[in-house]
Amino acid sequence: MAVDVLLGLQWGDEGKGKIVDVLSPDYDLIARFQGGPNAGHTLEFDGKKFVLNTIPSGIFFNNTLNLIGNGVVIDPITLKREIDKLKDAGHDLLAKKNLLIAKKAHLILPTHQLLDAASEKKMGEGKIGSTLKGIGPTYMDKTGRNGLRVGDILLPDFKERYQKLTDKHTSMLQALYGEVGDFSEREAAFFEAIELIKKFELVDSEHYVNNCIKTGKKVLAEGAQGTMLDIDFGSYPFVTSSNTTTAGACTGLGIAPQQIGEVIGIFKAYCTRVGSGPFPTELDNELGEELRQIGHEFGATTGRPRRTGWIDLPALKYAIMLNGVTQLVMTKADVLSGFEKIYACTHYNYQGEIIDYMPYDICTIKPEPVLKEIDGWNEDLTGIREIAEIPQKLANYITFLEKELDVPVKYLSVGPDRVQTLVLH
Ligand code: GDP
Ligand code: IMO
Ligand code: MG
Repeated sequence: MAVDVLLGLQWGDEGKGKIVDVLSPDYDLIARFQGGPNAGHTLEFDGKKFVLNTIPSGIFFNNTLNLIGNGVVIDPITLKREIDKLKDAGHDLLAKKNLLIAKKAHLILPTHQLLDAASEKKMGEGKIGSTLKGIGPTYMDKTGRNGLRVGDILLPDFKERYQKLTDKHTSMLQALYGEVGDFSEREAAFFEAIELIKKFELVDSEHYVNNCIKTGKKVLAEGAQGTMLDIDFGSYPFVTSSNTTTAGACTGLGIAPQQIGEVIGIFKAYCTRVGSGPFPTELDNELGEELRQIGHEFGATTGRPRRTGWIDLPALKYAIMLNGVTQLVMTKADVLSGFEKIYACTHYNYQGEIIDYMPYDICTIKPEPVLKEIDGWNEDLTGIREIAEIPQKLANYITFLEKELDVPVKYLSVGPDRVQTLVLH
């Protein structure tokens, strides 16, 4: 099987960027399949740290190509900023020719961001907690069959098409929210960025990826966000606007389901969430604050403090089922060092009934977590490079999780750097 998939099993920020970077040398192509610059994928190596929003996390290896797939929504301004930053750091993607962009990927316009902001403002307390990058409105235009795609930038009437859609957005903003807002600066930056995008190889990604498959190349599909933010199966309406699950890799790249090989599901040794919405195991207390500080749990894209809590096994089991996960990656085990006791939610108490699955109306009726107490470990894990060095109590935690989840934990991450990764199986 030619296409492996790596995706998040929780509410995002599980460490996808780091692990994709670690796995990249084994692949010929890394392909992002959904989401947009709401993502912030962090990777660290050689004392350097990069946060990627749109560009796949395989960009630092010379023999690996990177594709922004058709399922992604692209903000040209953010993409240009990423490209410029990488160039400043000595990674000139135009010269290296290691970034391809799908013609069918949709474009985020400056007015999509205004619509996002206006909608959130109007919702007040009930807001989604969006990253305000224009993701929802852009996917709405895609499914509403109004959107502009990357391939359109090559058409002679692109500016007129842009104007038509922008005019529609400004009249919506005026009618729904009573104001439009100034976007002249962003508009100029948008067109400047479009000129840069034209210099990259724009491809029919479905043909490109299928050709890779035919010629025996290895492809890794990189997800963004996490399963619990999936538009269909996440904690709706507190979700993002794309399918973050394995199925999204098929539609977001144009590959058939039978081409999918390993599905690598990634989770933190505990759990976090940014933005609004239900979070059954949330620690809205001092302990949660401690986890946030030790784990540096602040958004890579927005800088917002992440909500923190214990690992949620019913949610993880649900994610494993939806994605067909074959291998697990556990990250941030090092953050739990020094906690005398840690806890895993094994069930929910849902209106007096003990259940082990995610109920439908998790947003209106909060399930109470049923927690199992587990002995913590004291040892600093960040210097560990061999399986033999893993403290017994951490090994017990991993064995417990493997038994509960019925999937092997293949990789263990003990720090943000590329080298802080162990292969367990
Ligand atoms: P992504 O969106 O899934 O790529 O994850 P983010 O980059 O948003 O958030 C993960 C954060 O944890 C980043 O700051 C990473 O550098 C960091 N990180 C990844 N793995 C580990 C780990 O095993 N231990 C620690 N301490 N940090 C990690
Ligand atoms: P990565 O790929 C964590 C959250 C937002 C908000 C909800 C909807 O880095 O894991 P949107 O901007 O999509 O309309 O926001 O989804 N969200 C993320 N949370 N990691 C992400 O990406 C996220 N992308 C969106 O905080 O609650
Ligand atoms: Mg992130």
